[in-house]
Amino acid sequence: MAKSRAKSALTPRGDPVLSSGARGGRAIRWSDWKQGDLEEADRLKAGRSWLTRMKQEHLAVGAFSMLATELAAEGCDPVVLSLLTRAASDEVRHTEICRRMAVELLGPANVPARFRGVPSIPKHEGASEEARNLRHVVEMCCLSETFTGVFLTEMLARMPSGKAGGTPRMAVESLLEDEIDHGRVGWAFLAARAREKRLDGLAEAMPAMLDRTMGWVMDWCESTPEEDSPALEAVGYVGSNSSATIFRRTLRDVIVPGFEACGVSPEPVKTHAAAKGWL
Ligand SMILES: [Fe+2]
Ligand SMILES: [Fe+2]
Repeated sequence: MAKSRAKSALTPRGDPVLSSGARGGRAIRWSDWKQGDLEEADRLKAGRSWLTRMKQEHLAVGAFSMLATELAAEGCDPVVLSLLTRAASDEVRHTEICRRMAVELLGPANVPARFRGVPSIPKHEGASEEARNLRHVVEMCCLSETFTGVFLTEMLARMPSGKAGGTPRMAVESLLEDEIDHGRVGWAFLAARAREKRLDGLAEAMPAMLDRTMGWVMDWCESTPEEDSPALEAVGYVGSNSSATIFRRTLRDVIVPGFEACGVSPEPVKTHAAAKGWL
């Protein structure tokens, strides 16, 4: 069904959003897209998930822009500022990649050309500006981007490898290579703050951050349990049961040890996650 659309799609080389500047991301051959035997219900399910991801990527543009503004005002290592501003630009490209995936699956009439709006960023009432800025970086990078990086890694492992993975695999690879960097900038900033002993109140603020970044997956899994489906995984859709398992493992094996390594007490997070049945 997507053949005519795919043929008429802009090539990455000719698309200013998908290939701008030195960090234009890897080329994605949209014209190679093959729908295969995907059933209608699966096509819609996968398409809607890419549409949701498109919106999340758009919101990440605003989130990184706000982080960059906050840290520019506070003052920080220029490398951190450079990575944050670059991340905002990466997320613009990610939004477009997710839009193209959604268009291939849902058809152009069912996908908006763009979203508008910025995320509502937690205010952390009562915290100093410096403590609030740290919490924003930790929530966005150490939590959200780290979860996303591991999730996309797992998604990629479930897709057909090499050329057989086709366009969806290229799209996920393109997203993944940036998301890993987006997580790293947070861990580097946190480590620097830990060395300076400027972590005030972070450990205690973590449970609420975890609810915002992980809670939705656990709620989704509980309300709509889904088994794995290779046909869906081939187009970048991981079912709710496996998604929840991936998030749980990431919390246990990456995030909790990461905070411990930075000298942030993991106890509030561990207690909270255990009470919720996430650990
Ligand atoms: Fe992204
Ligand atoms: Fe990202």
